[in-house]
Amino acid sequence: MQRILVTGGAGFIGSNFVHHLVEHTDASVTVLDKLTYAASRESIAGLPADRVSLVVGDIADPEVVAPLVDQHDAVVHYAAESHNDNSLNDPSPFVQTNLIGTFTILEAVRRAGVRLHHISTDEVYGDLELDDPARFTEATPYNPSSPYSSTKAGSDLLVRAWVRSFGVQATISNCSNNYGPWQHIEKFIPRQITNVIDGGRPKLYGAGQNVRDWIHADDHSSAVWTILNHGRIGDTYLIGADGEKNNLDVVRQILRHFGRADDDFDHVTDRAGHDLRYAIDSTKLRTELGWAPQFADFESGLARTIEWYVAHEDWWRPHKQSVEATYAKQGQ
Ligand code: NAD
Ligand code: TYD
Repeated sequence: MQRILVTGGAGFIGSNFVHHLVEHTDASVTVLDKLTYAASRESIAGLPADRVSLVVGDIADPEVVAPLVDQHDAVVHYAAESHNDNSLNDPSPFVQTNLIGTFTILEAVRRAGVRLHHISTDEVYGDLELDDPARFTEATPYNPSSPYSSTKAGSDLLVRAWVRSFGVQATISNCSNNYGPWQHIEKFIPRQITNVIDGGRPKLYGAGQNVRDWIHADDHSSAVWTILNHGRIGDTYLIGADGEKNNLDVVRQILRHFGRADDDFDHVTDRAGHDLRYAIDSTKLRTELGWAPQFADFESGLARTIEWYVAHEDWWRPHKQSVEATYAKQGQ
């Protein structure tokens, strides 16, 4: 049995990974999470206590991190400040957690000789033109646009340097936009689903032509587990499921699910520096490690996600008013 330390395991993708490990492996899991506004204890509640435990603490605190790392066979590092809009309002926690936090994890795994898998985003590559046939590959140069993506890019570069300079046993993955259960309602898909449940209208930034490459969080989890076990040390793997959609199409699909008219949405103030398009070429992961996504069909994956938010109103309802009040102040 492997003992895995999952940082950020009470957040959206980290908690999906913890569920994935419990269902598909015999690993035991310690979640290290600061429980910021983005976390939720409920997302990992009810899992077997002999398999999953939670330590509340900061990844930037070496006194918390070092002893925990010592007790595990591997660290899977999800913890981050993750929302672009927040990073435009206040970049400071992004620098602290994404850079100093990752540095702290790296120093701990270096001293302990423990395997690390670092979770990152395709946003480190900047954006593509809408009409460009190209997709991101592992060879695409870094060109981040926002405080969020630049701190993630910096964290990736720290990991690469610690591999080369200190022989740290690490891999990196850069994944496209995730959807699925337990995603905070500040993010695009759950914000629009919960707006419609509330009888309100989805809010599209600008014209809604921006493209994101959607992948279900459970497919992200299976890819990370594959890389953790079979990836080549020092390598980067791009994770994606060929799920390119523009934001307008996603909003229309949500509206249709609820029987609402296709044009029943608002255009709101665009995001500053808004990346146009992300698209992943995941050939390396598929051919070298044999991974394939299970949720190949975005439409049915989105329908299941919508049903999840309908069934879990108790979970998101307490945050809805304050999230919308923050957006309203920004004209969004
Ligand atoms: P999230 O905001 O839902 O969760 C982040 C978690 O990290 C929260 O539980 C939070 O409490 C925790 N955390 C934050 N600061 C911490 C600190 N200093 N110490 C300990 N814990 C801390 O984010 P998410 O969407 O689940 O993203 C997880 C990871 O996946 C991030 O590294 C993100 O960059 C990456 N990623 C996200 C996406 C996406 O579509 N959301 C896509 C690709 C990669
Ligand atoms: P988001 O979920 O914030 O992810 P990211 O910025 O990491 O891609 O946003 C996804 C897309 O949706 C992005 O193009 C911005 C857009 N968006 C809206 O149109 N309306 C919204 O209310 C939000 C939150 C995002």
